Amino acid sequence: MGIEQDFKHALASWASGVAVVTTNSSGLLYGLTVSSFSALSLDPPLILVCLGHANRMAPMIEASGGFAVSLLDTTQQSAAQYFARTGRLPTADFVEIEGQWTAGGQPVVAGALAWLTCTLHRAIEEGDHTIVIGRVIEASARAEASPLLYWRRGYRELADGS
Ligand SMILES: Cc1cc2nc3c(=O)[nH]c(=O)nc-3n(C[C@H](O)[C@H](O)[C@H](O)COP(=O)(O)O)c2cc1C
Repeated sequence: MGIEQDFKHALASWASGVAVVTTNSSGLLYGLTVSSFSALSLDPPLILVCLGHANRMAPMIEASGGFAVSLLDTTQQSAAQYFARTGRLPTADFVEIEGQWTAGGQPVVAGALAWLTCTLHRAIEEGDHTIVIGRVIEASARAEASPLLYWRRGYRELADGS
């Protein structure tokens, strides 16, 4: 096996949550399923996601200047699959997956475990992805919820269900 395959197999061993990045760019909504979400800084409050260049998500965020991240609940595998589907176009409203607007005017996935909205802080192109850093301006989390997980190319949930 070459390094490319070894690299992919090694990365697939990292367990993560599942998030959907969304943005509203001039009235067009678009979202993308990601596992590359990370906290970056507490002061100021910064988070990041890594977005592939084959996808329109990073340029749409750069055009709109803001975005949201919805952390999915274990019941939201259909949202994860929908926002990972190839060939989708931006839409004028929420379609297929129920969404809601935050007070600050960002679209998020309804019923998410938690969500954060951000202004675009910085975008850094590296390799075939762009590291999109957001400054968090709104955040919300549900008390009673269990996260959707992703590990070795499959959706998982916590064994104790809590
Ligand atoms: C669990 C999961 C995690 C993903 N994580 C990322 C990610 O962090 N960054 C990214 O650019 N794409 C990620 N993807 C891929 C995109 O969601 C999407 O499937 C891919 O960009 C193909 O869509 P497109 O043809 O519209 O680009 C992930 C997909 C899945 C299922």
